[in-house]
Amino acid sequence: MKEKYYITTPIYYPSANPHIGHTYCTVNTDALARFKRMTGHEVFFLTGTDEHGQKIERKAEEAGCTPQEYADRITEGFKRLWELMDVSNDGFIRTTDKRHMECVQLVFRKLYEQGDIYKSEYSGHYCAQCEAFWTETQLKEAGGVCPDCGRKTELAREEAYFLRVSKYAPRLIEHIRQNPDFIQPVSRANEMLNNFLLPGCEDLCVTRSTFKWGVPVPFDEKHVIYVWVDALVNYLSAIGYGTDDDSLYKKFWPADVHIVGKEIIRFHTIIWPIMLMALGLPLPKRIYGHGWLLFDGDKMSKSKGNVVDPFILVERYGVDAIRYFLLSEFPFGNDGNFDNATLITRINSDLANDLGNLLSRTVAMVGKYRGGVLPAPGEAVPDEDEPVLELLRGLCPAMEKAMDEIHPHIALAQIRRLIGACNKYIDVTAPWVLAKDEAKKARLDTVLYNLAEALRVVAVAIEPFMPNTTPRILEQLGVEDDALKTYDSIKEFGGMRPGTELRKGEALFPRIDPKAEMEFLDNMVEEQRRKAAAMRAAEEAKEAGEKPEPEAAPAPEAAPTPEAAPAEAEKEQKPIITYDDFAKLDLRVGRVIDCVEVKKSKHLYNITLELGSERRTVLSSIKDWVSPSDIIGRNVVMVYNLAPRKMCGIESQGMILAASTEGDGDVVPLTTLKDIPSGSLIR
Ligand code: MSP
Repeated sequence: MKEKYYITTPIYYPSANPHIGHTYCTVNTDALARFKRMTGHEVFFLTGTDEHGQKIERKAEEAGCTPQEYADRITEGFKRLWELMDVSNDGFIRTTDKRHMECVQLVFRKLYEQGDIYKSEYSGHYCAQCEAFWTETQLKEAGGVCPDCGRKTELAREEAYFLRVSKYAPRLIEHIRQNPDFIQPVSRANEMLNNFLLPGCEDLCVTRSTFKWGVPVPFDEKHVIYVWVDALVNYLSAIGYGTDDDSLYKKFWPADVHIVGKEIIRFHTIIWPIMLMALGLPLPKRIYGHGWLLFDGDKMSKSKGNVVDPFILVERYGVDAIRYFLLSEFPFGNDGNFDNATLITRINSDLANDLGNLLSRTVAMVGKYRGGVLPAPGEAVPDEDEPVLELLRGLCPAMEKAMDEIHPHIALAQIRRLIGACNKYIDVTAPWVLAKDEAKKARLDTVLYNLAEALRVVAVAIEPFMPNTTPRILEQLGVEDDALKTYDSIKEFGGMRPGTELRKGEALFPRIDPKAEMEFLDNMVEEQRRKAAAMRAAEEAKEAGEKPEPEAAPAPEAAPTPEAAPAEAEKEQKPIITYDDFAKLDLRVGRVIDCVEVKKSKHLYNITLELGSERRTVLSSIKDWVSPSDIIGRNVVMVYNLAPRKMCGIESQGMILAASTEGDGDVVPLTTLKDIPSGSLIR
């Protein structure tokens, strides 16, 4: 019987279109799933979308549609992307699926009935107007008022349900200690133990009653189930747990590995195992926290305009080139930096040169020297042949080890080494020299045979990583027999049959023009940054209470067409003013004595300025470009007589000036050339 393998990705929030970060996680998981299938396992590979919660509810409201319509649209985009990327998932779960919601309710009810979920009170600062609870810190940052509307809050209690995390924590600590493979990379296990479990865990509030978009508590419909409890159950609901047909569940649970990003490992290694322990179910065998993909060293974020759009990349360079880049370039457990120049280099050097040329040279040489028919091997020269043969022998065990350790980049690196060794083999054996000497015929036969056989092995081994490339290589090698396309067939040397006709085909990966491609990619980034700046401006206008432009829900697939650049409009010359006009401005030097984030806003800082003996609060949307430590203690230029206005419930008493560039959207606050007492006038 086949060994089973259940592997999952996180279920993604359909709050915005999928980007290269989601693609990175899903494609790596796909390579692992494909490899397990290829090596004889019965695999269930699950992905999906996590559609409930306040964020989606708000996004939908902004877009003027229902949360379900919003989630439908974006989820469609995720599905399209996985199809485009040749992702071989066996299941796709949506948390709005009936089967999922019923399963969540079943789990919740069971835990409640056995006393592991209990009703209690959640207490905090409550704003009746906004129907929201705020923590001490949130309230303090907003100056003691509701961070949303600025009204006074009151101490209130609200009934809510709690999960007995504290009851199960000791068992979980023991489990983590006894099972070193449970949380990986291992550094993340230590982090969970030392930072969260050992200091002591409180019970977790697992319901919300301030918004509606969630799975209702089955016996108390005022409450919806906390989105993380809802989401984690997907790993069970997708395989039919608790239903009449739970055959998939019986076959596949426990999961062999949950692949998740490092930022959500805590939910998967604490809340999830505790829920499962309470349910009396086996725990997943492994939770692997992968690193983040950064862009030019920076976290990708829609508001910065630096998210990389996989649809555009695939359209330009092809699925397998992008899969290859994502799988080979970034060690899976670490953060990695996506940069356009490296992408171009990898396509040209690894794919066009090393792999593409190896195939075309081999096929061409068999064509030229043997009329296109593969010869049987003749004379061996161990010193020359051995480096290739040794890598061929070691390839399968090395790949299996790497894939078992969830290191797809290491498995792929083994294939790259083999490709490199073959290219070197051509240089060392110089077939064009052998071809000139009739006495070297048997030697040339061996070289050609070994190259073709190595390429067959590469073609089969590379399938989990680049599934479209496999048939294209095999086609040129003339391999038609399915028995020669299996994983087992590459464990032993010598599958290629002498007499096979090789066929010259198209270049596997045509070389791309680095200069033109850099220009294309840089323009794309610049374009996105411009768009993001325009969106930020619209959001700020909204925060300031101006009439908001309705924001359309993003199309499931990001449109590559450029929008009008807002910077052009800004650049238009303003009318000439008189000195009197200018004199109306009261500009002063303020010293920044504090700068904190406004919790309810994506872009605003709450900045405290000292102007002589006076203090002023100024809200400024420079969060994307400036960190508090950049400006605390520095002088800034402030518009002192700007009418105060309220944003996010806080009154802003002026404005600080900043210069902004057009292209990359950088924003730099103005300061004084040398220190000068705060409050000094600027004229
Ligand atoms: N919905 C939750 C997960 C629930 S699982 C029961 C969630 N969704 S998410 O849309 O924010 O997706 C998070 C996952 O997407 C990350 O854990 C990671 O796997 C992947 N990534 C999102 N951005 C990424 C990068 N920039 N780089 C690498 N992976 C990224 O959290």
